[in-house]
Amino acid sequence: MKSNLSIDSLGKAFRSALSKGLIGEEDTAMIFLDLSFLEERIRHLQSLFPSSSLHAIATKANPLLKILKFMLPLGAGAEVASVGELKLALKAGYPPEKIVFDSPVKTMQDLEFALLAGVHINADSLAELDRIALLKEKIHSSGTAGIRINPQVGVGSILESSVAGEYSKFGVPIRTGKEELKSAFLRYEWLTGVHLHVGSQGCSMELLLEGIRVLYEFAEEINTITGTRRINIFDIGGGFPISYDSSIEPPSMEEYAGEIKKRFPSLFTNHYSLFTEFGRWVHVNTGWTVSRVEYVKRDPGINTAMIHVGADLFLRECLNPKAWQHEYTLFDINGIQKQGKDVHPYNLAGPLCFSGDILARDVKLPAAEEGDYLVIHDTGGYTFSMWSRYNSRLMPKVMGYIGKDDQFMILKDRESFEHLMTEWI
Ligand SMILES: Cc1ncc(COP(=O)(O)O)c(C=O)c1O
Repeated sequence: MKSNLSIDSLGKAFRSALSKGLIGEEDTAMIFLDLSFLEERIRHLQSLFPSSSLHAIATKANPLLKILKFMLPLGAGAEVASVGELKLALKAGYPPEKIVFDSPVKTMQDLEFALLAGVHINADSLAELDRIALLKEKIHSSGTAGIRINPQVGVGSILESSVAGEYSKFGVPIRTGKEELKSAFLRYEWLTGVHLHVGSQGCSMELLLEGIRVLYEFAEEINTITGTRRINIFDIGGGFPISYDSSIEPPSMEEYAGEIKKRFPSLFTNHYSLFTEFGRWVHVNTGWTVSRVEYVKRDPGINTAMIHVGADLFLRECLNPKAWQHEYTLFDINGIQKQGKDVHPYNLAGPLCFSGDILARDVKLPAAEEGDYLVIHDTGGYTFSMWSRYNSRLMPKVMGYIGKDDQFMILKDRESFEHLMTEWI
């Protein structure tokens, strides 16, 4: 399984898009998603875990309706983190049993909607569990339910995306909450699942496995106490890290699945239905973003390339640049890669009106000129799904690409000013 798309393949797709006239003057930035690569990722995942597993792909990474529809016939499920995402998954045609509803703040109405829809709900707290119990007295639901438990195994290298430290706003902490968790499982017969998520990027495979170990032991203990396989849904969450640097080999999903099977064998038998919630691993490497270089500000110290995407598309990168770094390639106006030893440091500045809107600093690039195109690699997830409306800029077009057929399709049109007018009234 390849880790990143090569510059050659991106360049080829970009030149093809240019020659087909798909990049208009008003397309100052565009996002491309390689659909063949996306399919490869999903099929690879399915080949590594038991065939009965539910791979509920994290919708928050890429919520495009056409992408949800593309993944459905491949056998994917959907992890949703809000009622909005839940409605999107239903609209895309996902059957309720393939939807996993996680959210840290579900209202009574949210829970009622999810119960009526019949999806799997992961309660985030014991209080939420009690709300589900109340609703279950009047609503018959075909859906299942689990509880999110914080295994408290520690944080990864990015604090903001680590959620299994001693303290986390998510889930019930295993150490202080264990007795209450046990009594919840004894009280609520319909509670049949456990759920964990250790973090997103920055967490080592060993940390993820340690989180699974803590919940595995808990689940086996409950099943021994109840004398049944009361816990039969085991949701390992997502968080598998990828590489944003093509020279660094990322951890292997194959090894991860192999380790889970070796260390927690029952998860690979019919004792448990295994759920996964990968988002980043499925989506991020499949996408890239192209922005026109509108101006180049030259300075004795550092040059600044003024581009059309910044903190609106790359929120995390601008706010925490040390943790989130991409690779960049410069193409000329005809889509030919600019190369050569004569490289200069550039700051890549976005279009927004605040000083923190710098996508990256001190990036070594060949001489950049107005009209060049900057490619930002590995942007297929957690980019447009985190789009910011600040400064009322229009969200770029998202294009799907199938390399073997040299075929493009619009997944989401460039936003229009007409649409914008409906946003602020
Ligand atoms: C509960 C839950 N599941 C799954 C994911 C997806 O994580 P990743 O995209 O890193 O696989 C997240 C991400 O924040 C999450 O919070």
